[in-house]
Amino acid sequence: MRCTVKGGKPLRGTLRLPGDKSLSHRAILFASLAEGRSEIDNLLLAGVTQPMLAALTAFGIQWSLQEQHLTVEGKGLEGWKNPVGVIDCGNSATTMRLLAGAMAAANVEGVLDGSPGLRRRPMERIVQPLQKMGVAIRATDGCAPLTITRSLHPLRGMEHQLEVASAQVKSCLILAALVADRPTQICEPGPSRDHTERMLASMGAKIESIPPQGENQANYQTWVEPLSEPLKPLQMQLPGDISSAAFFIVGGLIAPDSEIAIENVGLNPTRCGLLETLGEMHAKLSIEGTQAQGGEPCGQICIRSSLLKATTVMGERVVRMIDEFPVFGVAAAYAQGETLVADAQELRYKESDRIAMLCQELRKLGVEAIETQDGFRIIGKGKVTGGVVNAHGDHRLAMALMVAGLGSQEPVVVEGAEIVTESLPQFIPLLRSLGADILCETDG
Ligand code: S3P
Repeated sequence: MRCTVKGGKPLRGTLRLPGDKSLSHRAILFASLAEGRSEIDNLLLAGVTQPMLAALTAFGIQWSLQEQHLTVEGKGLEGWKNPVGVIDCGNSATTMRLLAGAMAAANVEGVLDGSPGLRRRPMERIVQPLQKMGVAIRATDGCAPLTITRSLHPLRGMEHQLEVASAQVKSCLILAALVADRPTQICEPGPSRDHTERMLASMGAKIESIPPQGENQANYQTWVEPLSEPLKPLQMQLPGDISSAAFFIVGGLIAPDSEIAIENVGLNPTRCGLLETLGEMHAKLSIEGTQAQGGEPCGQICIRSSLLKATTVMGERVVRMIDEFPVFGVAAAYAQGETLVADAQELRYKESDRIAMLCQELRKLGVEAIETQDGFRIIGKGKVTGGVVNAHGDHRLAMALMVAGLGSQEPVVVEGAEIVTESLPQFIPLLRSLGADILCETDG
């Protein structure tokens, strides 16, 4: 699909977004490990969550959906059955990495595989620590397919030192640690999202997050105790996804004369790096009506068109906005001055190499974007010229490039735009409902 975005139209109105992607994955999976009926509201129904739901069926768990409301009949860890056939995780690394941990906890056997894109993502980062805990898991040249066979339970509780801050790796190990013979400690160099800890704690697990203390500011610890009782079922209304909100936020800042509000957005501090960074860039942003929903803070974000200034993003901030760099690159192009991003090498291992692809595609729009080994530099001129770009099979790159068109001088044409359905099938209708001029044509 090719979408043409014509710039210059104001964005105005109020939005609500589907449930957070990370929370949706966790809610589906953790509910299936609990004992009893879980009820989850505002689930994200998109390409990335389909494989997790299908996996539940494959593992013998019953569930039903009524629109965005999911009911899961959990039978505890013993309720999981060996699947028939390979589990297809689609394009979702979260599904693969979290399922590996859940399979270790439930002690079931199977093969996890996925799309060619997912087969390129690094899996050694979960395979090695799981093996150290006694899980019988193998990768294929460090990647999917992953083969898991039954292990001798209990697994070994131990200390893990992760080289890269990653919520997917941490969550995988937390799940395995629930059935270990002693507590497990996971140390990370940055504050990766803590949804697993919050959700499992609300279901009765004993998990503690310890922020860095003293000299070593790059030591984020998570302590997990083995379960002494089955997990309690989950009752939760999921807040809207801040990573999806990010596209509308940047759109509202760069489209002329705009004023939008996004209701019920998740505001977990481990996800709010973009809001803080945009604030430093002089964005007219405010947060209202904050409250807690199932242990997760959420609230309304209000945005007005703004003249942005360049900034620098590095260190722990990178981790707290790890999914927002494609659209942040667009904000940097519309800002005045040189924006620098460093310590962000992980972006090379996402749905695309987001450092290389973002810079390459922004250059096609007349933006001066320079790739570095662990980030990029963008020389913002307060405007984008326009041109034809490609999404490279990356949903966030597709949405970011469409957002780039909202304030551009000439139209921005995004090829491969159909990939937005991976995380936000409503993206184009929602953007149009705010007043954006977008014309999409299917190929052929
Ligand atoms: C996610 C963690 C992040 C993020 C991904 C979702 C999660 O990945 O990029 O979109 O739900 O745990 P990493 O753990 O690889 O940083």
